[in-house]
Amino acid sequence: APAWLSLPTPPTAELHLHIEGTIEADLLVAAAKRNGVELPSYDPAVLTERYEHFADLQAFLDVHYANLAVLRTEQDFYELASGYLTRAAAAGVRRVEAFFDPQTHVNHGVPLGEVIGGLSAAFSKAEETHGISAVLLLSFLRDLGAQAAEEIFRAAMPYREHFVGVALDSTEVGYPPSLFEKVYGMAASEGLHRVAHAGEEGGPDYVVEALDLLGVERVDHGNRALEDDDLVRRLAEDGTPLTVCPLSNVYLKGVPSMAEHPLPRMLEAGLTVTINSDDPAYFGGYVDANYAAVAAQFELSRDGLAQLAANSFEATFSTPEQRTQWL
Ligand code: ADE
Ligand code: ZN
Repeated sequence: APAWLSLPTPPTAELHLHIEGTIEADLLVAAAKRNGVELPSYDPAVLTERYEHFADLQAFLDVHYANLAVLRTEQDFYELASGYLTRAAAAGVRRVEAFFDPQTHVNHGVPLGEVIGGLSAAFSKAEETHGISAVLLLSFLRDLGAQAAEEIFRAAMPYREHFVGVALDSTEVGYPPSLFEKVYGMAASEGLHRVAHAGEEGGPDYVVEALDLLGVERVDHGNRALEDDDLVRRLAEDGTPLTVCPLSNVYLKGVPSMAEHPLPRMLEAGLTVTINSDDPAYFGGYVDANYAAVAAQFELSRDGLAQLAANSFEATFSTPEQRTQWL
């Protein structure tokens, strides 16, 4: 048997996880029924079958946002987060810094307090119930523009204690980081951490803008940074972590196959790579499945996997004292 088969996936931090992307078909169907929301099917197998064939990021986002219409109540958000935490604990997650997309839900008519109330109720007791330290990152939907981002940011200020940073996601190409300079400045003034999706489908210039104009401390994905040698040197010298999502990249056709994933080139270039699941209900598994996929494809050693896990803890927004508890 190949050596990697005997490698257990390591305890890890998960730094690129959309809590909405953890909605498994059973919760999707249950929430649709109790909230009277229509779905194209109520058969979990039929619903999940659609996930195998995304042409690109937008094709996924269209299904993802349509599904999220089922989430209406604080209870729905609590169950969403609790379900993730249970699966994450089984996958070896000790710390999660998860994105949530408040604009999606507010635009569906859900009060912001119910969204944040449900998610943070589950997250704040995750240490006790699952042995996981769990915090939230408020993510802006880039395709809704800068004005909408500023509006949701102001609306979220009464809940400031419930998230540790801001993020930027959704349709990338056509919505460069430069549009969000002002709202990231507001977040910095509030002492919030800052990350952004960049270089998933957008070019290396999107990564440069995220660093220069938004002041991001990590780059979410960052794959296309490899097209710019100066940028690669900069990321390596600064030790800026990349939150790489291998299965997501294959499912969304950012890479043609796992064999062609840039992970080995990233590691060779000395980049601080972390392994993450992105939207695990859609992309073939949780963070352990992502570790297993790259271990299998690239025949990583136990030390190689341990280095990736160490990177993940090092890249968290935490103190060294906290980190020692997770390792
Ligand atoms: N929203 C959920 N997953 C995403 C991804 N991988 N990229 C951009 N937006 C997202
Ligand atoms: Zn993502």
